[in-house]
Amino acid sequence: MCGIVGAIGLGNCSPMLLDSLKRLEYRGYDSSGIVTSDAGEFELRRSVGKIKNLEETVNEKPLSGSIGLGHTRWATHGGVSERNAHPHIAADRVAIVHNGIIENYESIKAKLHAKGYNILSDTDSEVIAHLFVEAFEAGLTPSEATRRVTSEIDGAYAFAAISKDFPNLIIAARNSSPLAIGLGDTGSFIGSDAIALAPVTRRVIYLKDLDYAIVRADAVQVFRPDGSETKREPVIVSASLALINKGGYRHFMEKEIYEQPDSIANTIRAFSGVNGKIALGVSSRTLGNINGIVMLAAGTSYFASLVARYWIERIAKIPVSCELASEFHYREPVTSGINTALAISQSGESLDTLKAINFAAERNLSTIALVNVLDSSIARDSDFVLETKAGPEIGVASTKAFTAQLTVLITLAVAIAEAKNELHELQVKKTLGQIKLLPGLVAKTLDAFESIKPVAGELKSVQSVLFLGRGPLFPIALEGALKLKELSYIHAEGFAAGEMKHGPIALIEEKLPVIGLLANDNLIGKVISNLKEANSRGGTIILIADEKVANSIDFASYVITVPASDPVLAPILFSVPVQILAYLTALDKGTDVDQPRNLAKSVTVE
Ligand code: M6R
Repeated sequence: MCGIVGAIGLGNCSPMLLDSLKRLEYRGYDSSGIVTSDAGEFELRRSVGKIKNLEETVNEKPLSGSIGLGHTRWATHGGVSERNAHPHIAADRVAIVHNGIIENYESIKAKLHAKGYNILSDTDSEVIAHLFVEAFEAGLTPSEATRRVTSEIDGAYAFAAISKDFPNLIIAARNSSPLAIGLGDTGSFIGSDAIALAPVTRRVIYLKDLDYAIVRADAVQVFRPDGSETKREPVIVSASLALINKGGYRHFMEKEIYEQPDSIANTIRAFSGVNGKIALGVSSRTLGNINGIVMLAAGTSYFASLVARYWIERIAKIPVSCELASEFHYREPVTSGINTALAISQSGESLDTLKAINFAAERNLSTIALVNVLDSSIARDSDFVLETKAGPEIGVASTKAFTAQLTVLITLAVAIAEAKNELHELQVKKTLGQIKLLPGLVAKTLDAFESIKPVAGELKSVQSVLFLGRGPLFPIALEGALKLKELSYIHAEGFAAGEMKHGPIALIEEKLPVIGLLANDNLIGKVISNLKEANSRGGTIILIADEKVANSIDFASYVITVPASDPVLAPILFSVPVQILAYLTALDKGTDVDQPRNLAKSVTVE
């Protein structure tokens, strides 16, 4: 992961670099650093922890210089320490920042050691700086040096380098990790994404894979790996200039949970055409031609795909398979007989998902991206793009993006069914009518905050929690467990309730909290039996239930209700209490809600 920034041509670039790093903190917050070059001398500041620590360091010892690089780190190789924080400087001659993983760094390191290079950190990244020193030592130009360095390194990277040998330029290169170059009035900028550059420019060039660039204050040259110069047209991006704030809430996550009625309403509006028709931006012919979908996603987005499988198979009657993106192409899957791949990603940048959708495209599948960030790599690489209108999601734990994804996916199920004549007009109207009820129902679901507080109070001191659901609520059980793990560091597992008897029931002991999800659907009797089985073995039952059926169970220690609804909407409504439960438990435990340990919002490494 990690975020990188760079600037050339500003009076004093360090305030801008700091501001841009704050915008990239979602990519990692283990450590951060800035290097500037002033009158031919490097000045370096690095700090462990969040950007505010770096800000304090820079305030104590200000930086000057009109060319500089910045980095916020999510540690992969080398522990979290100032020594391993970027930027890395080699031989007081080249400074670099890197996002990605250099997979052959150990062999490069060994060679560099043998040649007498002094490597200071435990990172994979530092070798890039030394390779540049070696290339400049050999008299290569910046372009020649970059070609040589990029031909020596394997793995994913977006990096930027500055050198005392060429003090008026920044070298930038990418392979698999995103990199944007901003074109300002008086200077040029580099960032892992356009949002990092929003305060200084909205004119951005996106480098393509294996591009490298020589960035000067007044000109940017882009090259292909063979050294030929190429043209990349700048685009105007719509990134908001304002730093998104918490709007009076204690945490971004809390704000984002409360924003869900709006984010769902905005998403529904975006896909509503004239006369109440669905307008996904994908033609009815294309949808009608879909004969099967492989869904590719990670984490919470993967759970959205699992829910969508129930909807699409049930409503549109086409086969759907759901694949963890990180496993998909390494498995050498057989994709014949299915003509469409759908990548689901809030950020649009998860490298696993990007690689998976590119693999699907190589297999000639038609590709659809469902993303919350339109200017993202996955969106750019896909044939069709469906955008969730959740707005920027800052909390590392996904909430409003998930329910917006589900809103799009249920709409997609109806749209495919309509295009394939699997639903007649009245049924389409009826289901769309249900979907339109979502903002109001989700708003009502938010009332559960109060009834969830005592449950969070109970969970805060337990070691382990189980979430059980069946049918489309099974993925919500998985999501509930993930949310709780991420935020409160409590061990939690989600199971299909009917699967318990095949093994996991052995986990149940006196007072183990078992959170049961009970919709008013055809599986209700079976879920009740499964919860009874858990209760009779000592489990403490915490019931989250449709209000119409909440009193079908008299053995629950706590009952949280969601508003009565058509069962098709249950996965979306039941997502909200599991989010609130994780949030309130984290609050009680005093963990870092918006930036939980070891995580990052956008996962751009494999
Ligand atoms: O941006 P993406 O949707 O591709 O991210 C996928 C996962 O990394 C993400 O959902 C992760 O699991 C979240 N931390 C969940 O809260």
